[in-house]
Amino acid sequence: MISDADRRIAPGSGSDGAGAHDAAARLRARRRLDRLWRRGAEFLGSDLAIMGGAMTWVSERGLVAAISNGGGFGVIACGSMNPAQLDAEIVATLALTDRPFGVNLITLHPQLLELIDVCAARRVGHIVLAGALPTAAAVARIKGSRAKLLCFAPALVIAKRLVRMGADAIVIEGMEAGGHIGPVATSVLAQEILPHIREVPVFVAGGIGRGEAIASYLEMGAGGVQLGTRFVCAHESIAHPRFKQAFLRAGARDAVPSVQLDPRFPVIPVRALANDGTRKFQELQREVIDRYSRGELSQKDAQLEIEHFWAGALRRAVIDGDVETGSMMAGQSVGMVTREQSTREILDELVEQAVSALAAREAEDDDDGRADRDGRSRAGA
Ligand SMILES: Cc1cc2nc3c(=O)[nH]c(=O)nc-3n(C[C@H](O)[C@H](O)[C@H](O)COP(=O)(O)O)c2cc1C
Repeated sequence: MISDADRRIAPGSGSDGAGAHDAAARLRARRRLDRLWRRGAEFLGSDLAIMGGAMTWVSERGLVAAISNGGGFGVIACGSMNPAQLDAEIVATLALTDRPFGVNLITLHPQLLELIDVCAARRVGHIVLAGALPTAAAVARIKGSRAKLLCFAPALVIAKRLVRMGADAIVIEGMEAGGHIGPVATSVLAQEILPHIREVPVFVAGGIGRGEAIASYLEMGAGGVQLGTRFVCAHESIAHPRFKQAFLRAGARDAVPSVQLDPRFPVIPVRALANDGTRKFQELQREVIDRYSRGELSQKDAQLEIEHFWAGALRRAVIDGDVETGSMMAGQSVGMVTREQSTREILDELVEQAVSALAAREAEDDDDGRADRDGRSRAGA
């Protein structure tokens, strides 16, 4: 007998005739999913080990609370907020959810230590440090606040070093992700890092759009996952309707890394939807490099001009809806964002897909087992 509670645990479970067998299989698959991500979920304090990756301007109180209320783990993107703004955002989020959520801080923020103090004063349970390798001072300040510390690791040696420094969990994010990216794919990072980091849970991010991929990374040893792009078009996301429309129209190949024209002038790679802005960025680089070559600009000024190009551009796109020249940060999973949905629906869908994948594996195992038994009994006859 499949109860209503069980149907909620394993959506798609029926209770009629042949459906009852499937329903029982789905329940077993859901329990397997819970076992697979138990470590990550216990670490986060959430029902699902699905983190809503912090997205500057997008991951504010509304979306963060919706993800946490839906059973996932929302993370506020501090971005360039000052301590008073971050404090207000945390307070506003606390008013919308009593479920755990975290705060993502950029290590290069000039007021990083003050921001950590704000989190400590509001008893934020989890801090994610993004950007460059954190300093020992920042790590000590977070550990002193008793918050759990999550750090991004772009390679195994760095993951090991971060664990030695005191990271309580690691996030590995591949180049399929939206926003700032490294050079290595999620699938490769997962194989490189998951078998070797057992001390702390590892969350996999980048390119995850469906639950089947979640199930696979969990089976490879991940403690949980982090998704960003998939949540941009949630009803609760404040992203401008034009920003959301662009996501709904885009396919995987529209989300491309920024192009660097000259190795003397490094460009930090950012994955975003190609638009007039990305084309103008290449023109600007060409023009700045020409001026530098003619001796009209110093190398430092040329680099600054290139870096300055995108200042304020993400806000322009997300908040003002300038999809032509703003920064349309998006991951390759954007092709799997096909409609606006509630955050809860997105989370339910991901869980349902993961459960279906695990149930299908179990059904195959059963078939193999039956075939083996049949084969043995025929051989014995
Ligand atoms: C619009 C946008 C803004 C982002 N901003 C940040 C940020 O401020 N800090 C951060 O650590 N990651 C940021 N990210 C990365 C996400 O937190 C998350 O790791 C990533 O989106 C996961 O990959 P996916 O997009 O393939 O799901 C951003 C991503 C997007 C799409």
